[in-house]
Amino acid sequence: MVYSEKVLDHFANPRNVGEIENADGIGEVGNSKCGDIMKMYIKVEDGTISDVKFKTFGCGAAIATSSMATELIKGKSVDEALQLTNKAVMEALDGLPPVKVHCSVLAEEAIKAAVSDYYEKQGIDPEILIEK
Ligand code: FES
Repeated sequence: MVYSEKVLDHFANPRNVGEIENADGIGEVGNSKCGDIMKMYIKVEDGTISDVKFKTFGCGAAIATSSMATELIKGKSVDEALQLTNKAVMEALDGLPPVKVHCSVLAEEAIKAAVSDYYEKQGIDPEILIEK
């Protein structure tokens, strides 16, 4: 199995690892097959993701995709963060082996879960914002 330089870099030096105290949104997702778990924390200021941190208990690709996903949404609006796809995360990492695609899906889901939690806390139904 061959990983890109970027995947290896984000695995070895993951960006934005940790937790945010008093986060505005927290999302936790898991994959029942591999047992990996991702937790994302976002801080929102004026509709912009001012800070994001993650904790991933999972494989190397799960850590690399979490790290890249946080980099991609930092400084973006919450709506833009909701549009982040696992495909965009994979592209930013120069690809993933086919058996590792689900790890990037977990990263997309974790961000969506954190943003949904943020919307719920604002009294907005997140269902209407997530296009299926
Ligand atoms: Fe399941 Fe990577 S093996 S998230």
